[in-house]
Amino acid sequence: MERNKRLAAERARLASGGGTKKQQAQKQAGKQTARERIGMLLDRESFTEHLAFASGSGGEAGDGVIVGYGTISGRLVCVYAQDFTVSGGSLGAMHAKKICAIMDLAYDMQAPLIALIDSGGARIQEGAKALAGYGDIFKRNVRYSGAIPQLSVMLGPCAGGAVYSPALTDAIFMVDQMSQMVITGPKVLKAATGAEVKMEDLGGARMHSEKSGVAHFCAKTEAELFVLVRQFLSYLPNNGAKKPCHKRVSEKVSAHLPRDSKTVYDMVPIICGLADENSFFEWSKRYARNLITAFIRLDGQPVGVVANNPKHLAGCIDMDASDKCARFVRFCDCFHIPLLVLEDVSGFIPGVEQESRGLIRHGAKIIYAFAEATVPKITVIVRKAYGGAYVALNSKALGADFVYAWPGAEIAVMGPAGAAAVLHQKDIQASNDPAKALLQFEENYREKVADPFSAAKEALIDDVIEPDETRQRLIESFSILACKDERANWQKKHGNMPL
Ligand code: HXC
Repeated sequence: MERNKRLAAERARLASGGGTKKQQAQKQAGKQTARERIGMLLDRESFTEHLAFASGSGGEAGDGVIVGYGTISGRLVCVYAQDFTVSGGSLGAMHAKKICAIMDLAYDMQAPLIALIDSGGARIQEGAKALAGYGDIFKRNVRYSGAIPQLSVMLGPCAGGAVYSPALTDAIFMVDQMSQMVITGPKVLKAATGAEVKMEDLGGARMHSEKSGVAHFCAKTEAELFVLVRQFLSYLPNNGAKKPCHKRVSEKVSAHLPRDSKTVYDMVPIICGLADENSFFEWSKRYARNLITAFIRLDGQPVGVVANNPKHLAGCIDMDASDKCARFVRFCDCFHIPLLVLEDVSGFIPGVEQESRGLIRHGAKIIYAFAEATVPKITVIVRKAYGGAYVALNSKALGADFVYAWPGAEIAVMGPAGAAAVLHQKDIQASNDPAKALLQFEENYREKVADPFSAAKEALIDDVIEPDETRQRLIESFSILACKDERANWQKKHGNMPL
């Protein structure tokens, strides 16, 4: 066959992946093919394939993975897409070699790496060679962590190594009812234990974004998920050596402010009121809802927000919120995204359940993450800031660059009721009207001990500011901090964060 005819024939063979039948089955399952997915994710016709003709021992199309580079909103990204129509997207030696090659290229070009994962894990027929392939990928996931953003987009039933590698990356995206993540698949589970469980129940998108906390973003369709991926990327720099790019957006003045210290409210409208219009983009939205982690823009500059949400569990901190907070803070710090904490917290959740499961260990991660982060860090105390939670959530003592409080803020070792129980229980019980005596104590405590001006006098906060001035003050403060020297000059290999 003529060489150029052969080229066309070879390309057509590659385009058909695991064959027409398998591609039809993929479509019937409501899924796009690997090549279609790359086309949906990247800017139009921007994809260049790499190692297209490399195939494994079975000689199958591309050995089940397509790798290459292209652009998203004009920015260079590297991508690999596993093809479920070829041996269930399972990973053999050549498949792994191609992924490693594109990971190395992403690192060399200092560009984000996006993995479109649809795979049954290590290719069983290839044995230890396949396992070694995962080892090669994991090593790169860790080496390039913090250097380039690594995103994992889960697009099918993924098992074994196909979920370990994503777990080492910065963010995991899933489609409801289409993506699953499990260490061991149902067929293997049944063979090993006899238990019959559906893939969706074992590791569906809803479970991983609400309960396990494994997935950070979830959408109803592949197309919606790719929009989220593109949006997420717009908050990040291409690599850890660069700062995120600014985008100017119209301003909006803050609103929805809490006045009364006992009213339940939602923190989201407050964040949106402070942020540039339509710039609120939530991370791990359905997991640990008592703590919000989100990206916003402030006068165009991307900022990572950590905020208590009094709407859920009164905004108190538990183990899940601790993990979510620490992971987000460390992520922002890797990629030079400044941090803003909006604080309304009456403490860590008390009780046997949380204590016995290690709240101390998990809570310590928040302290570690904030104390370690070198990006610009600002805290605004919206309402309550009590005890250990006050110290842990980016307090001045822990290294915040600026801490501001709104006039109604209460900063104290504990809430008035707890303080009364420890300090004045006997007096209150001995009084003629214990309820009135308690109320009086609480008022006194709020006015004299917990008020923000006492903290300002002691230089524990930088200023007391009006809610409506906050947006402008934050823009100015972050702008001053833009030249902050982020290099931590500690001479050590690395710290030993509590895990
Ligand atoms: C080889 C595989 C495969 C695998 C699927 N296939 N997984 N081939 N190795 N790991 C093949 C099937 O044989 C089938 O081929 C095709 O892919 C589609 O699979 P089906 O089972 O027909 O599809 P479905 O019913 O949708 O189920 C998908 C699945 C299931 C849930 C992923 O196949 C499954 O449970 N696979 C095993 C998952 C697992 O336990 N992996 C862990 C591997 S160990 P044909 O030719 O019939 O179309 C691992 C450890 C790594 O990864 C550790 C690193 C340190």
